[in-house]
Amino acid sequence: MHPMLNIAIRAARKAGNHIAKSLENTDKIESVQKGTNDFVTNVDKEAESIIIHTIQASYPDHSIVAEESGAIEGKDNEVQWIIDPLDGTANFVKGIPHFAVSIAVRIKGKTEVACVYDPMLNELFTAQRGSGAQLNSARIRVNPLKDLKGATIGTGFPFKQKQHSESYFKIMSAMFVECADFRRAGSAALDLCYLAAGRLDGYFELGLKPWDLAAGDLIAREAGAIITDFSGGTDYMKSGNVVAASARGTKSMLKHIRENGNEAILK
Ligand code: IPD
Ligand code: CA
Ligand code: CA
Repeated sequence: MHPMLNIAIRAARKAGNHIAKSLENTDKIESVQKGTNDFVTNVDKEAESIIIHTIQASYPDHSIVAEESGAIEGKDNEVQWIIDPLDGTANFVKGIPHFAVSIAVRIKGKTEVACVYDPMLNELFTAQRGSGAQLNSARIRVNPLKDLKGATIGTGFPFKQKQHSESYFKIMSAMFVECADFRRAGSAALDLCYLAAGRLDGYFELGLKPWDLAAGDLIAREAGAIITDFSGGTDYMKSGNVVAASARGTKSMLKHIRENGNEAILK
């Protein structure tokens, strides 16, 4: 195993266990609003500091981008750790047990290793570039979807960018005619991992941040997913607009996105 994946897993398990433990004592959870419909808790911050300490104990010179702390420039800026300490905070504050820790390592701009840990189910999703994706060490693969018939598609509503709701719901309603159903589970990192494991057949969402996506992206691609932005290009890390499924599944979803999306989201 790549030594950085080993450290990422150690950090994700430590942080995940802290998050799970915090749910046992909900009166100690303090939540503050950091943006429109966007909340952060003391537990998000504690989990992040556990992760950063674990990484820096082994790699003090590496650069880090973490959701709550921002960019931490290291002496070595070729290696960058991308951290979402708690993906699914809205679930966490409501006591809905569906959230995860997400950690990816990019070397010279390429994601090399990734892990997403769900501490409630003790499910660890991992990937190393070129070596496939695993759930608790067993190989996982994307469903070889041919079209959207019978498909269950994961998504997230644009609750922070409600100016895009009309476009978004037009896309969703066009897809709904063709697919079986949707899930809005509340953790983009787990959505991508569930796609990787064949629990979802497709996934799309707009306005995500690099820390929501970085680890799930590698895990889904290593499981065979084709991931694009809303115009079918590869700029999804920048735009945060993402479509993912088997090659044919992504093509089918893109058709509805192109036909129903407005200019602002097709960029
Ligand atoms: C959120 C989750 C959610 C997605 C949001 C993200 P957070 O991350 O991934 O599923 O719809 O856009 O911001 O804030 O819980 O880390
Ligand atoms: Ca997130
Ligand atoms: Ca988060």
